[in-house]
Amino acid sequence: MTSFVRTAHPARIVFGAGTLVTVPDEVERLGRARVLVLASPDLAELGDRVEKALGPLAVARFDGATMHTPVEVTTTALGVLREAGADCVVAVGGGSTTGLAKALASRTGVDQVVLPTTYAGSEVTPVLGETADGVKTTHSSPEILPETVIYDVELSADLPVPMSVTSAVNALAHAVEALYSPEAEPVTDALALDAITLLTRGLRRLRQDPRDLGTRADLLRGAWLAGTCLGSVGMGLHHKLCHTLGGSFDLPHAPTHTVVLPHAMAYNAAAAPDAMRRIAEAIGAVRGEDAPAAVFDLIQEAGGPTSLCELGLAETDLDRAAELASATPYPNPAALTRDGLAGLLHRAWVGERPPGGTAPATARITEQVVESFAGTEDPRLRHLLTDLVRRLHAFAADNDLTQSEWQYGIDFLTRTGQLCSDTRQEFVLLSDTLGLSSVVDLLTNSRTPDSTPSAVLGPFYVQGPPELPQGSDISRGAPGTPLYVDVLVTDTAGRPAADAIVDVWQSNDDGFYDVQLPDLDGPVLRGRLRTDGEGRLRFRSILPSEYPIPDDGPVGAMLSATGRHPYRAPHLHFLIQSPGHQQLVTQLFVRGGPYLDSDAVFGVKDDLIVDFTPRTGPAPDGRTDAREWRELTFTFRLAPAAGAGS
Ligand code: BEZ
Ligand code: FE
Repeated sequence: MTSFVRTAHPARIVFGAGTLVTVPDEVERLGRARVLVLASPDLAELGDRVEKALGPLAVARFDGATMHTPVEVTTTALGVLREAGADCVVAVGGGSTTGLAKALASRTGVDQVVLPTTYAGSEVTPVLGETADGVKTTHSSPEILPETVIYDVELSADLPVPMSVTSAVNALAHAVEALYSPEAEPVTDALALDAITLLTRGLRRLRQDPRDLGTRADLLRGAWLAGTCLGSVGMGLHHKLCHTLGGSFDLPHAPTHTVVLPHAMAYNAAAAPDAMRRIAEAIGAVRGEDAPAAVFDLIQEAGGPTSLCELGLAETDLDRAAELASATPYPNPAALTRDGLAGLLHRAWVGERPPGGTAPATARITEQVVESFAGTEDPRLRHLLTDLVRRLHAFAADNDLTQSEWQYGIDFLTRTGQLCSDTRQEFVLLSDTLGLSSVVDLLTNSRTPDSTPSAVLGPFYVQGPPELPQGSDISRGAPGTPLYVDVLVTDTAGRPAADAIVDVWQSNDDGFYDVQLPDLDGPVLRGRLRTDGEGRLRFRSILPSEYPIPDDGPVGAMLSATGRHPYRAPHLHFLIQSPGHQQLVTQLFVRGGPYLDSDAVFGVKDDLIVDFTPRTGPAPDGRTDAREWRELTFTFRLAPAAGAGS
């Protein structure tokens, strides 16, 4: 059993694209009316936008936020705040501007609303780092935590790629160290892993389209979660080293985090194997790649810095840095020794890939292929191809796919293609039996909760079925239990759809469709009918039976190799078209029929399993020749066509 203590920091988070406009509401929500707007000189324009959005609530402005929060700057800003009688600060920018807001709040208790433009994460921590006389100290208190954070994804879209990469790796470091912190608990674990997944995904996509809001949303959400971890649990060696390198050697904050992280992880790897395994999994590391090596590769592929040398640290400073970082003890999974840290810093200075894990040759090929799509004009095409290649390569790498296995795969696909003709679609069957058709169907259709769910079309639909009048017998006398169908077609509000075109088709009593029986004379058990003025449709048929999908080709071989049967649960197909409504392709399944829970194409949905009620006595058309007949009643509810009013 695990025991833990958790303290949550009560900040309000507003997340989305274009959320900057909520700033006046958020200030008023705090009961504040006089705002000092804080920005940095390079983000003055953004400061203007915030000031404009605040309107009369903005009473003063200070654009002087700088790195490391020097107390002189805070003193000047404090004068501006007091002179204006401000009761709230709104800070827009990176960690420096947030730092200034915190410094003012810690001295005066004013409320803070922060709009971050980077992935620093400090906006959700109650910690303030300040520099006085060149010495940086940190302290923590509840007033330091900003009351409200407005994450506007659009603001981070302008952050240049190099800064985005280092800032995102800085965030990644918070999540990594949270996982092996002595104060780690289930909530921070979950936040950290989610943050790692989001940040990794964002970093991998960033260079393809730096302004893509989906990518930026991943990074910003990851940064928020990672920042929340940073605010909740203590950090270890990595943060200590970066603090030392930044404070004593004036190295830039986020790039230092970027270079050091894989090396600090490698140092801790043996002492925190569980955290490393979970990190590697969240990153989606290719098989055999350890978490530190995977992080190194991620940074390299994103174009981030990989050596302390390139950040300007002199080799002669390494010993002193090791000495400083090991001078005071602090919690960390691996024991901290001066020699151990000197070795770590040397590897980070050179930019060595951390040991452990197979060489990332496959990752490099993946990136080359991805890069090759850079010129694709259609962004959707580029996205789909990129993702497909990544997943295919990961599939091969994760499974150590052998040459002969892949050759078998190619032969299998070749045979699948060779079997396709005007009357046989083996690729569709493959997609069906792998459940992919049903997944795409679910994603494309069934999105309106009030409409009838859709189901796959299947390969036996024939364009232009014979037009039949209401009340027809679509079975044309084929043997089987008589079925009387009486259905309604309506919109989602229950209003009838008159004159809707309804195509129906089904298997015969032996489980075959007419197109599978070349000796038949014309179409049987299929037809096109129309609803009457009340949206009602009646016709006669026979009870559909279960049937095997065509299993004499590669798909059948796949089914038998996996011990699967080829049967579909008994069903009746419908394709309904009506002006002003979305087309509905669906199936009704016979309740109590076989294979409902093991349908070969994964097409059964609970709402589509219906009673084909057994009846005796005279049938609806007055016939008395059958001992038993079935009755099917159902109401199809059509979703409105895109853009149609309801
Ligand atoms: C069908 O229901 O007709 C069907 C659907 C998918 C694969 C094979 C048959
Ligand atoms: Fe079917």
